Amino acid sequence: MSRFPASSFDLAIADPPYNLSSGGNWKWDNSVKLKGMGGNWNKVMESWDNMPLTDYLSFTLAWLSEIKRLVKPEGSFWIHGTYHNIGIVNLCMQMLGLEIINEIVWFKRNSFPNLSGRRLTASHETILWGHTGGSKNRKYLFNYEASKSKNYPEDLLKTPGKQMRTIWDIPNNKRKEELQFGNHPTQKPERLIARMLDISAPKSGTVLVPFVGSGTECVVAKKYHLDYVGFEIEQSYIDIAKKRIDFLDNQGYLFL
Ligand SMILES: C[S@@+](CC[C@H](N)C(=O)[O-])C[C@H]1O[C@@H](n2cnc3c(N)ncnc32)[C@H](O)[C@@H]1O
Repeated sequence: MSRFPASSFDLAIADPPYNLSSGGNWKWDNSVKLKGMGGNWNKVMESWDNMPLTDYLSFTLAWLSEIKRLVKPEGSFWIHGTYHNIGIVNLCMQMLGLEIINEIVWFKRNSFPNLSGRRLTASHETILWGHTGGSKNRKYLFNYEASKSKNYPEDLLKTPGKQMRTIWDIPNNKRKEELQFGNHPTQKPERLIARMLDISAPKSGTVLVPFVGSGTECVVAKKYHLDYVGFEIEQSYIDIAKKRIDFLDNQGYLFL
């Protein structure tokens, strides 16, 4: 990211490691069929997702500083998380003077039940929407009319014509096409990313994707006729992402 000149991007969507793999050494594999759970499910247990807290703090500060430098003040950025990491992301944003526009609760009504029976069933993730202009320079693009008028039939909390709220009811199901080239343990559904682009994407421009994984953000950007630049450290995920993007090129644009 450091090789790009300042203000190279119109938007960023960061789905970083949540740093939740510490404290266990078990993993579901895909041969375990979980009836009614709507697809494969893995507990993440990867080295990229298991950092000492202070390392995670410096790591987060490093990539957020680059987002601050690289995203134009007219643009904005979205960051995914859960309680494991989102507090640190929030702290780092405040340290860097990055204003939070909204905190969104992504409600996953079909989330996986709690297996231990010792906690409530975790059924949401938190998303922070921020901008790089600072509180005295709010120039970021907000497609207000689209956010109001757009109909999301699967979202039981959104009424077309009414302002969009900060709770998004988006099932975590992925269509067959989204999973056909392999599995990423924390793959996001395309509909979630589409919602972000409806709200904040310009008609043309370039999206920065610091953590590509299986390529969901890049695929959806492409469906919205946006360019993208993505980064990923695992070759096997790059392979999946490339196949998904090639599939789009070969099939034409699919509906979300
Ligand atoms: C939460 S996942 C992203 C999943 C993606 N949103 C999707 O739908 O497939 C985070 C990804 O970041 C990658 N990663 C971890 N550390 C990284 C780094 N320093 N630079 C680039 N990618 C990194 C991991 O390999 C992992 O695939």
